Amino acid sequence: MAQDLFEAARAAMTRSHSPYSHFPVGAAIRSADGRVFSGANIENAAFPEGLCAEAVAVAAMVMAGQTRIAEVAVLAEKKALCPPCGGCRQKLAEFAGPEARVWLCDADGPKTAMRMAELLPAAFLSTDL
Ligand code: THU
Repeated sequence: MAQDLFEAARAAMTRSHSPYSHFPVGAAIRSADGRVFSGANIENAAFPEGLCAEAVAVAAMVMAGQTRIAEVAVLAEKKALCPPCGGCRQKLAEFAGPEARVWLCDADGPKTAMRMAELLPAAFLSTDL
């Protein structure tokens, strides 16, 4: 994985609004055309209204006109390797093929790559509708 994706996720994490969990997360997505979109978790006093970092990055990508994910990087300040939550796996799978890599990163860089199909086996996708 190119370092730029990790650096985008790490930079995004500094924008985290997480005064309730105190668990900052950053995510970055490289779209199929090579552009990078990032997001941080944005929490809310009404707790269920919070947004995950991956969801914010997906939204940024889609609003820029991109709908194919090439690879993803995720990191959390307080956890060495932060696996995307279940809801985020579904959000990523909407735009990422089964072979797309999701890089779990620590503070120094990418450590482990997981395939989208490993993260969300038997995914419910548009082809199921
Ligand atoms: N969080 C993410 O941003 N992404 C994940 O995949 C896991 C969880 C956020 C949500 C909440 O703001 C905080 O981490 C603690 O759950």
